Amino acid sequence: MKKSKTGFFCQHCGYMSPKWLGKCPSCNGWNCFAEELIVDSGSDSRAEMNFDGKPQSIEDIPLTEGQRTVTGIVEIDRVLGGGIVGGSAILIGGEPGIGKSTLMLQMMHNLAQKGLKVLYVSGEESASQIKMRSERIGAVSKDLLVLVEISLEKILEQVKAVSPAVVVIDSIQTLYSGELMSAPGSVGQVRESSSRLILFSKKFGIPVFLVGHVTKDGSIAGPKVLEHMVDTVLYFEGDSSHTYRIVRGIKNRFGPTNEIGVFEMQEKGLKEVPNPSTFFPGGEAAKCCRFGCCSLSGRYKADPGGNSGSGQFHKFRNSASYGYRCRL
Ligand SMILES: Nc1ncnc2c1ncn2[C@@H]1O[C@H](COP(=O)(O)OP(=O)(O)OP(=O)(O)O)[C@@H](O)[C@H]1O
Ligand SMILES: [Mg+2]
Repeated sequence: MKKSKTGFFCQHCGYMSPKWLGKCPSCNGWNCFAEELIVDSGSDSRAEMNFDGKPQSIEDIPLTEGQRTVTGIVEIDRVLGGGIVGGSAILIGGEPGIGKSTLMLQMMHNLAQKGLKVLYVSGEESASQIKMRSERIGAVSKDLLVLVEISLEKILEQVKAVSPAVVVIDSIQTLYSGELMSAPGSVGQVRESSSRLILFSKKFGIPVFLVGHVTKDGSIAGPKVLEHMVDTVLYFEGDSSHTYRIVRGIKNRFGPTNEIGVFEMQEKGLKEVPNPSTFFPGGEAAKCCRFGCCSLSGRYKADPGGNSGSGQFHKFRNSASYGYRCRL
């Protein structure tokens, strides 16, 4: 029998140390180390994911996996760079209650309406709670499958059996792998679950959305390393006292990151705001835009600088755009 090895992991940034440390040398966090099992990269569960690849000419590689699935939610499709790329892993982060599950359910409903079989996995709510929200927002379709599960192994088994067009995991912090001894939400569990889901999605060409909670300091709870592992990172932002929400791409291997999508949270769910510039310069939509600007052409664009301003709108100009910027 193989001997299990353990290490101490920073629960903020994922830094590993062979012994317990009071301060993390990587992120300078205090008292954030927890002992976790180190996963053997040659374990059976991972061996199963092997690609058995051989070098091949780039000319001979078929483009099937690069094809995009359009969700029909224009604001999301634009932020993704034109739809969901096959086999891609997309992390969608946001503060508690901002509307992540609502957005994912609406997107999955749209896909199901096109005749695609999609799987929404929740570890946070019961099936009837999900149904309640779906009824409220009108997202009930035959091809939208719901699975309430937190065991990574069981989820992978079901995804294999169903072979859906798109999978949503809501949320990555609730998952646990039986191969680790640490609790769900720990850096080891989040990293292991994500890495196996990402491998799975690449091998079978099934896009996977990972919903991730954001901590008070604005980082995805657990490991920052998650952002490096996935293809696309989207943040769902807004102010709980206002109804406007913004989806902002901060990393995209298949598209630009200077677009944002704007929504309004209503009783019936999230409604797209196709022309947010009508709310500027002092409108409600602007107030929920943390680092956004409105170009004179009329569309919001993410502000790559995004580090100035303090509660007021600031007129600014750079080589690419010209408009207003605000910061909460
Ligand atoms: N009846 C309603 N009318 C209007 N808005 C509602 C209604 N019910 C819920 N909401 C909005 O939906 C939000 C919750 O949405 P949702 O559960 O999708 O968020 P979440 O980001 O997934 O939350 P969590 O972090 O708890 O998983 C509430 O904060 C509220 O703004
Ligand atoms: Mg939720």
